Amino acid sequence: DGAALVIAIDGPAASGKGTLAKRLALHYGLPHLDTGLLYRAVALTLIDADADLDDAGAAARAAADLSAERLSDPRLRERAMGEAASRVSSVPEVRAALLSWQRRFADGPDGAVLDGRDIGTVVCPAARVKLFIVAAPEERARRRHRELLGRGEEATLAAILADIRARDARDSSRAAAPLKVAEDAVVLDTTELDADAAFAEAVAIVERLRSR
Ligand code: CDP
Ligand code: CDP
Repeated sequence: DGAALVIAIDGPAASGKGTLAKRLALHYGLPHLDTGLLYRAVALTLIDADADLDDAGAAARAAADLSAERLSDPRLRERAMGEAASRVSSVPEVRAALLSWQRRFADGPDGAVLDGRDIGTVVCPAARVKLFIVAAPEERARRRHRELLGRGEEATLAAILADIRARDARDSSRAAAPLKVAEDAVVLDTTELDADAAFAEAVAIVERLRSR
């Protein structure tokens, strides 16, 4: 596996992990998987079927039958979908169904960049590079607020901050693959960094780790 470079990026909502993952993938010529989209797509399947988001059996079936086309639905990016994804993602059968999908993606010949909550801990525990991206909740709420306004979605900053705190708490406290820092991950705090500065820091870390 000498040539394959797997970069695992985890962190809470709106820490900037997706933006960073995309840029690192482009920089290193690697495929990128936003694993949050898989959980969002499971939630959207339930919503479209008028099923209860807390129906573990229905969620498990939706995850097992997930098709790639679902992942390009623009509704996946809506604010309510992050919350809905967080609910279905605590079902162990949902996580198990999506695990093989993610592993197949990561096992490509060149490597890959994956971002999510449990990439460094569960999906790719042997990744050569693991980054854990953090930022203060208030700054993350400002970023998400700006993003949603840009897409014409109305929401107050206070409501988004409440969303973020609730999602942090649920994602960190669940029994199945909780959000936590892998012991060999490098923590990058982007509270005071814009996307360019965060990218520069991340490339420096990747260069240092890949030659280990
Ligand atoms: O972009 P944002 O961080 O707001 O959300 P996301 O990455 O699309 O993830 C949505 C939800 O899916 C998260 O709150 C997690 O509960 C869940 N998720 C997960 O459990 N494991 C992953 N690898 C990725 C997402
Ligand atoms: O994937 P995740 O939910 O962690 O965050 P994101 O969607 O990559 O980033 C949320 C917003 O913060 C985007 O609009 C980014 O442009 C912005 N941002 C960033 O990604 N990185 C920074 N260091 C600062 C802001």
